[in-house]
Amino acid sequence: MTKAKVAVLISGAGTNMAALLYAAKATDCPYELVLVASNDPEAAGLKIAEAEGIATWSLSHKGMNRDAFDALVDEQLRGVGAEFVALAGYMRILSDDFVARWAGKMVNIHPSLLPLYKGLNTHAQAIEAGDKFGGCSVHIVTPGVDDGPVLAQTPVAIVPGDTVETLARRVQFAEHQLYPATLAAFVSRERSPDYLRGRVRDLAMALPEADEVVSHGMPCFGIVKGKKFAYFTEDHHGDGKIALLVKISGAEEQAMLIELDEDRYYRPAYFGDGWIGIRLDLGDTDWDAIGKWLRKSWLAVAPKKLAGLMGVADEF
Ligand code: GAR
Repeated sequence: MTKAKVAVLISGAGTNMAALLYAAKATDCPYELVLVASNDPEAAGLKIAEAEGIATWSLSHKGMNRDAFDALVDEQLRGVGAEFVALAGYMRILSDDFVARWAGKMVNIHPSLLPLYKGLNTHAQAIEAGDKFGGCSVHIVTPGVDDGPVLAQTPVAIVPGDTVETLARRVQFAEHQLYPATLAAFVSRERSPDYLRGRVRDLAMALPEADEVVSHGMPCFGIVKGKKFAYFTEDHHGDGKIALLVKISGAEEQAMLIELDEDRYYRPAYFGDGWIGIRLDLGDTDWDAIGKWLRKSWLAVAPKKLAGLMGVADEF
């Protein structure tokens, strides 16, 4: 099994980084840490990583412009071949440019049940509000502090007499369980048939009058009482591929695409020249592009009236 390469950014104690690191020692863990980086050379977590033989990098951000500092961090991450970034108590707002470069590949842990209590003093706010539960969340990082789609959460009961310290301690236990498991699922999902099928289904079924049937053992998407425009294939005839099949104009386009990227595109067996196979299991699927392929394929089979009515014809 090739493991996903993860870089962790920390600013302090690094206990979450340590939880990720020790979980990564299990042979079946789908990720490995390739770098622990910090904006504080004194961050205690750096020592833990060093002791475990993980590469570290640190530089104080003080006096540096945010974009310039983040560009240096980015250079380090790319230098070690990181595929994913895990923020673990990285107490620095990231530049939009950095967030954009790692879009869909960067996660963060936060000590509250998001969307409640972004930012600091989360436990005090939960106790003050009389909440029954505090907790922690792991989310995908988007622009905006502690914002972005939540991947997983653990509620932690608040008990009478809880102080910020007592609650924080229990939430920390929860964080140390939640983060490694969530990161493992996150780095694996781009190769998971269930996840990939779900993404294709959501995009295909959002098209006008789309429906799903099973054809030749594959989930297949067509226009209600009309033609098919997409197939989801998973190890079809033992080919070992997870892919999307969509309609194209013919042999010329098929050959051009395969020449363009022969790892991604292929001629689907038994489908002829009018279809192209697009691998979804390479770990770097561009879902906007998949959405466009599906719309184009839908348009190729949609009755003119339907396409016109839906106003999507202009796109092509
Ligand atoms: C963790 O509790 C983490 O959830 C929090 O910082 C702490 C870092 O501890 N992160 C945030 O508040 C992000 N907004 P650690 O250095 O021991 O992992």
